[in-house]
Amino acid sequence: MGTIRLGKRTDGRSPKIKDFVPLADLNDIVFGGWDIFEDDCYAAARHAGVLERDQLDAIRGELEAIRPMPAVFDQRYVKRLQGPNVKTGKNKRDLAEQVIADIRAFKETHGCDRLVMIWTGSTEVFMKEGAIHATVESFEKALEASDDAIPSSMVYAYAALREGIPFANAAPNLTADVPAMLELAARHKSPLAGNDMKTGQTLIKTVIAPGLKARMLGVRGWYSTNILGNRDGEVLDDPESFKTKEESKKSALDYIFQPHLYPELYGQLDHVVRINYYPPRGDNKEGWDNIDLIGWLGYPMQLKINFLCRDSILAAPIVLDSALFLDLAKRAGMSGIQEWLSFYYKAPMHAPEVYPEHDLFIQLMKLKNTLRFMMGEELITHLGREYYD
Ligand SMILES: NC(=O)c1ccc[n+]([C@@H]2O[C@H](COP(=O)([O-])OP(=O)(O)OC[C@H]3O[C@@H](n4cnc5c(N)ncnc54)[C@H](O)[C@@H]3O)[C@@H](O)[C@H]2O)c1
Repeated sequence: MGTIRLGKRTDGRSPKIKDFVPLADLNDIVFGGWDIFEDDCYAAARHAGVLERDQLDAIRGELEAIRPMPAVFDQRYVKRLQGPNVKTGKNKRDLAEQVIADIRAFKETHGCDRLVMIWTGSTEVFMKEGAIHATVESFEKALEASDDAIPSSMVYAYAALREGIPFANAAPNLTADVPAMLELAARHKSPLAGNDMKTGQTLIKTVIAPGLKARMLGVRGWYSTNILGNRDGEVLDDPESFKTKEESKKSALDYIFQPHLYPELYGQLDHVVRINYYPPRGDNKEGWDNIDLIGWLGYPMQLKINFLCRDSILAAPIVLDSALFLDLAKRAGMSGIQEWLSFYYKAPMHAPEVYPEHDLFIQLMKLKNTLRFMMGEELITHLGREYYD
């Protein structure tokens, strides 16, 4: 639905993005995936209870045809889950080869020209980059040795990148955010994006925080809490998975407020993030934010935000956008980290020498300027002197 302005404001050229850049046609897309549960997509969607039954029934046949392939899974990385649809293999390298075989068979069966892989699996336990993640060589040795520093999500990412397939991480896991994966992406010319879709509370945070900072309003505290009752909430009830999510959710404010540049406004900020698993709400998440502000001459104020949102309704369309843009990036010869897609992510991947950009409006400008650049259109700087000459 989004449009993009081209040329001057007086030119009146604002085509839809989908008509401006050559995105894959939605009618040409085939979906497939892996899960530890055997339910087909219709059964899984009925169980999730997000969409109305008559909407699902209208496409029941198509959904039933999507049956998950057996997953690469180890409960050590997602403590609250257990399921029967799981691969076995002699080591993690063998499991990666099985995923590659699945990918090739999927491509062949469905007659696909191109593929994109997006990790939408559960949040894994918190992990830090280690020595085995340093190079492709050390990573491949570690695969062979089934090293504990390789969670399931990394096996999929490795498989996708080795096949030259664009990969994005919709979860906060470490997954592809290590030097070995960047090296692999460069070698096989795969575009990469992540991490963790920016959908509910963090989306709003990156709308509000730039506004407060633009007016130089100080922030002493930001308390964020969520209640949700879907399977994501159940997984995040485990402290080790929550830690991964917490790190991802907390980074935005530090980067937006730049406390090193504005110590008197943001140097004392207490930022607290809580998630509580509360089954009655299912997928209908409730987020509360209490923001303690400081105005001119140090006078305190408060802002309260209560977002009654729908987790999957916010997430699904931007997973699709990510897939379409990654496919476009691949065809445009762009590989490695696609920072212009940081618009979609809570903890955007970025080059080591720069800080990540979290401000939603800068992210959108970057995304649209990248599309203009790809299509040979003039970039928009918002200078606008020409209207007054
Ligand atoms: N609004 C959102 O829905 C949203 C927003 C941002 C990020 N996320 C993140 O996206 C991820 C998925 O969220 P969700 O709400 O879709 O969760 P979900 O629990 O509904 O779905 C995750 C699925 O992944 C499967 N899974 C887990 N490990 C797997 C593995 N190794 N291989 C194959 N399948 C595996 C689970 O069985 C489950 O069916 C989570 O990390 C979540 O935090 C979700």
